[in-house]
Amino acid sequence: MTPSVWDERAQAYRESEAHREGPDLDLLVEWAADARTALDVGSGGGHVARRLRDGGLDVVTVDPAPGMGADVQAAAEDLPFADASFDVVATRVAAHHFGDVAAAVAELARVSADRVLVVDNLFMGDAAEEADRVRDPSHVRNYTEQEWCALFEGAGLTVMETRRVDRPMRFGPWLGRSGCTGAAAGRVRELLADRIDGDTITLDRIALRGVKG
Ligand SMILES: C[S@@+](CC[C@H](N)C(=O)[O-])C[C@H]1O[C@@H](n2cnc3c(N)ncnc32)[C@H](O)[C@@H]1O
Repeated sequence: MTPSVWDERAQAYRESEAHREGPDLDLLVEWAADARTALDVGSGGGHVARRLRDGGLDVVTVDPAPGMGADVQAAAEDLPFADASFDVVATRVAAHHFGDVAAAVAELARVSADRVLVVDNLFMGDAAEEADRVRDPSHVRNYTEQEWCALFEGAGLTVMETRRVDRPMRFGPWLGRSGCTGAAAGRVRELLADRIDGDTITLDRIALRGVKG
């Protein structure tokens, strides 16, 4: 795998308060509760894996950035696992970086024996998309709830539940994690003005629980 911007950011994402905790992590643990094995895709600082392991699951992590130190280095679009290898396949705040999200969701479904859990920021309009790209050029796109449901259905998954898990975060550290400073940071603040209150930014976030078949 070629080193990526994610290698430089690995420590920041491991330590990030916004990533270490949150109601979305609690929900993933609840949705995975009766399972035995899980795959954490785009695992980054390993927070989903840590929480699922605490819940008693055997978890494998996969991430393409070598610096993230996942168990397996691979992209979501091409997972090196056999069909139906894990009870639960989860991915949290990573899908908006996937180059081919439909191929990735098909892979999540293929390697899952039972359920696929996705948490990601929602599409919040063109200004917010521009802000995401200015803040972090590796941003590809956020999707609407309708688009997410279509992606699940296209991969042969039945959507059992969707939940809003909006996430207030500290604005400064959010910019800092992707190294966004100066004029670029000013532009992001301008584009997201309606979502910023003091040093807090609130992004719309969704969690989806799908099952195979
Ligand atoms: C925001 S971080 C991960 C957050 C982590 N899942 C958590 O809950 O804290 C996004 C991660 O997506 C990974 N990523 C980027 N493109 C990817 C792809 N095509 N497939 C899988 N992971 C990818 C990056 O290497 C990075 O570790």
